[in-house]
Amino acid sequence: MYLLGYDGGTSLPLGNVVHCFLDAVRALFFYLTALVASGSLWPHDASANTRVMHAQTQYLLGLGIGDITGPVVETNMMGYASLAQTDTGLHMRQRSRAFIIADPTNTTNRIVFINSDICMGDTGIRRSIVSSLSSLYPGLYSNTNIALVGTHSHAGVGGYLEDLLPQLTALGYVNATASAIIQGTVRAVQQAHENLAPGTLSVGNTTVLNANINRSPSAYLANPAEERARYEYDQDKDLTVLRFNDAEGNPRGLLSFFAVHGTSLYENNTLVSGDNKGMAAHLYESYMEPSSLPGQATFVAGFAQSNVGDTSPNILGAFCESPGQPYDGQPCDFEHSTCGNRTQDCHGRGPGFRISDFESNRLIGLAQFTGAQTVMNGSMAPVNGAVRWVHTYLDMANHTFTLPNGTAARTCPAALGYSFAGGTTDGPGAFDFIQGDNSSNPQNPFWEIVKNAVTPPPPPEQVACQAPKPILLNTARGYAHTPYEWSPSTVDIQMLRAGNFVMLIMPGELTTMAGRRMREALREKLISSGVLGDDAYVVVAGPANTYAHYVATREEYGVQRYEGASTMFGAATLEAYIDKYGSLVSYLADDATGLPASDPAPPEQTSKAISLRTSVIADNPPIFKKFGDVLSDVSSSAYHAGDTVRVQFVGANPRNNLRLEGTFLTVDRMVSGQWITVRTDSHPSTVYQWNRTSTILGTSTVQISWTIEEAGTYQIVYYGDSKPLIGSISPFTGTSSSFIVR
Ligand SMILES: *[C@@H]1O[C@H](CO)[C@@H](O)[C@H](O)[C@H]1NC(C)=O
Ligand SMILES: *[C@@H]1O[C@H](CO)[C@@H](O)[C@H](O)[C@H]1NC(C)=O
Ligand SMILES: *[C@@H]1O[C@H](CO)[C@@H](O)[C@H](O)[C@H]1NC(C)=O
Ligand SMILES: *[C@@H]1O[C@H](CO)[C@@H](O)[C@H](O)[C@H]1NC(C)=O
Ligand SMILES: *[C@@H]1O[C@H](CO)[C@@H](O)[C@H](O)[C@H]1NC(C)=O
Ligand SMILES: *[C@@H]1O[C@H](CO)[C@@H](O)[C@H](O)[C@H]1NC(C)=O
Ligand SMILES: *[C@@H]1O[C@H](CO)[C@@H](O)[C@H](O)[C@H]1NC(C)=O
Ligand SMILES: *[C@@H]1O[C@H](CO)[C@@H](O)[C@H](O)[C@H]1NC(C)=O
Ligand SMILES: *[C@@H]1O[C@H](CO)[C@@H](O)[C@H](O)[C@H]1NC(C)=O
Ligand SMILES: *[C@@H]1O[C@H](CO)[C@@H](O)[C@H](O)[C@H]1NC(C)=O
Repeated sequence: MYLLGYDGGTSLPLGNVVHCFLDAVRALFFYLTALVASGSLWPHDASANTRVMHAQTQYLLGLGIGDITGPVVETNMMGYASLAQTDTGLHMRQRSRAFIIADPTNTTNRIVFINSDICMGDTGIRRSIVSSLSSLYPGLYSNTNIALVGTHSHAGVGGYLEDLLPQLTALGYVNATASAIIQGTVRAVQQAHENLAPGTLSVGNTTVLNANINRSPSAYLANPAEERARYEYDQDKDLTVLRFNDAEGNPRGLLSFFAVHGTSLYENNTLVSGDNKGMAAHLYESYMEPSSLPGQATFVAGFAQSNVGDTSPNILGAFCESPGQPYDGQPCDFEHSTCGNRTQDCHGRGPGFRISDFESNRLIGLAQFTGAQTVMNGSMAPVNGAVRWVHTYLDMANHTFTLPNGTAARTCPAALGYSFAGGTTDGPGAFDFIQGDNSSNPQNPFWEIVKNAVTPPPPPEQVACQAPKPILLNTARGYAHTPYEWSPSTVDIQMLRAGNFVMLIMPGELTTMAGRRMREALREKLISSGVLGDDAYVVVAGPANTYAHYVATREEYGVQRYEGASTMFGAATLEAYIDKYGSLVSYLADDATGLPASDPAPPEQTSKAISLRTSVIADNPPIFKKFGDVLSDVSSSAYHAGDTVRVQFVGANPRNNLRLEGTFLTVDRMVSGQWITVRTDSHPSTVYQWNRTSTILGTSTVQISWTIEEAGTYQIVYYGDSKPLIGSISPFTGTSSSFIVR
């Protein structure tokens, strides 16, 4: 339903206009009654005037944010899964942002969407989050109404996933990472729960042209020409915004959906960050509340991931970085993304590539921020109707179902193809621990431990089922489950409904066309089965809950680029999801009761997880120094905006204390004789770097840098925590000399 007096210029179907008119008359009647009662006769301002036109469903809305940043040093990063990508510091903290939507007439009807700056949702951390929340608030939050959606940042801290495959490069499971994510996410939901208040929702969208491209266009071209002809681009350019309003119609937050990989920061980056989605969220929250420090704004801006599979933020395309070769600087091979028949030299370029990947990251974040602002500034359509949800487990190993054309189809036990190891133009490959080489890597001690469990050769039945995929890793349960499961077989199938807005929560990365087919089929099903009307608005969100890798269309699967090779359950994976989600739409009806049948939940694996990570042994300052001493101070001559100021301190290992909801540094400004903190470690203008100087002596240094934004008098403070060989960890600080910016 749309508003009368809506200035979007859209021509409305007659039915909607009639509805709208009736709603408006009804609202006007109530409004005039209220005005007469209050003795005032005419609206005071335009926004009150707009409100007259809403006869909107009232919801109870809660929004929260929590710091989930794991160890920022000596830990593998999650996404590219390159053994060499071990973190050395912090660019921006990772956060979980929680959005609760409840029905005020029956508050047990509620849904929780968690948008988390992690690479993907995971069964193990989700299990812990659900268990904490269901014991904190019995009867309100459960396994079925909580969605844990990853933003797909490839610059976050690794080691939190429960399955074996993604643990390979992280030296197994890292409890500190998992526990930071669990605690911060629970904190975000608690905060949202505590500020639940009446309000309304509205939805709108815009086109964002400068933030993504298709990184496998040759696979996209395998989709039928008539289907492709329905779309202007080989990539979804729409950014959808769900706006959270308070009872007066003022915005309290937003949840946006846009498909773009979190690979603006490259594989050689070692600073922890939320990548472009984290940047967009920071830009929005600080735009709304300029004086709040990161993570402390009350306005919550969630930038969620959508059908991300074949998207790339490296919008200038992929080029060969092959010094000395004739093809150096040329575009990579179109079909194979190779340079001289090798994948390693082919790299995507972001819009800021002449400066740095951090500049590309800022620009891709800015494009999404601006898109969301455009929608929030314009007229949005009201969201009306019930709050419902459905969740079930589905074992994808051999799921049989009927295709729309009547043919029987089945999925296959999980397996990854050869191109999985080929990686993508965004990096030599997610989980690419073998970097295009299909032999085991003796440099990786974790690999040594598990190599006896290396996936056994697939039997002919599995080869036939997965065809035409040539199988590299036969990770399926039943084939490779020692020492524990490599990849999931049972996935979460989940949908959340807030009125006419439905979120398809997907356990993997759908490609562009897969996402379009999924949304379209589900929207049709919701309408044809009478659950929703023509105003049904359907979005895809993921990778969520469980990571079941990619979902390409059947045609793209045939091409076996990275996305097809990583579609684990065979050519019919997408069709199986469309069928399964479609079969559950009746549970989203206003009057739905009961629960769908479910396969058993996936087995708990965290307790079996191998961890080779050792804890910090001890920190020591160098002789004649103490922790926090300045080793290299600021300059005594004046700085100018745009300069970068650097200070080096005697440091200690930041793994001693993650300082969650805190900071490893502050930039303080002198205001009326007092130091006021103006920047923390989560501002993109500051960088925290830790450097071990001697493993034997336990000495280390910390370098803090700040790219100056404004004139004033400042100092830089370092907050550390040191661990003695015997005794407990204790905090210390170090402070630079003050410096002047003209
Ligand atoms: C509230 O909703 C829940 C869940 O849908 C349902 O089980 C319960 O019966 C409802 N309560 C009332 C009073 O309608
Ligand atoms: C994981 O870390 C949390 C928080 O530090 C701690 O409470 C828990 O005991 C740890 N679990 C294991 C298995 O070490
Ligand atoms: C954007 O909004 C318009 C108007 O509500 C709608 O027709 C269109 O389908 C939306 N686009 C997407 C991609 O959902
Ligand atoms: C990081 O990788 C990118 C892409 O290959 C490259 O352009 C850049 O020079 C590298 N940066 C450093 C510091 O090595
Ligand atoms: C790449 O491989 C093809 C086919 O094997 C060969 O013809 C071509 O010369 C190779 N190109 C380079 C640059 O090595
Ligand atoms: C949205 O409105 C604000 C306030 O008027 C304005 O500063 C901003 O530029 C607008 N943004 C866009 C993208 O239109
Ligand atoms: C897959 O399921 C079908 C039908 O349920 C059954 O006939 C077939 O044997 C199963 N295959 C495997 C490998 O389990
Ligand atoms: C039904 O669709 C599947 C998948 O596209 C195809 O393989 C099969 O041949 C079709 N069957 C018929 C009878 O058209
Ligand atoms: C590695 O891949 C090559 C093809 O690139 C294949 O011939 C060989 O058998 C594979 N080796 C193993 C151990 O799978
Ligand atoms: C870290 O230490 C190494 C060797 O001691 C040095 O080359 C490097 O510049 C240092 N990096 C930082 C950020 O301090």
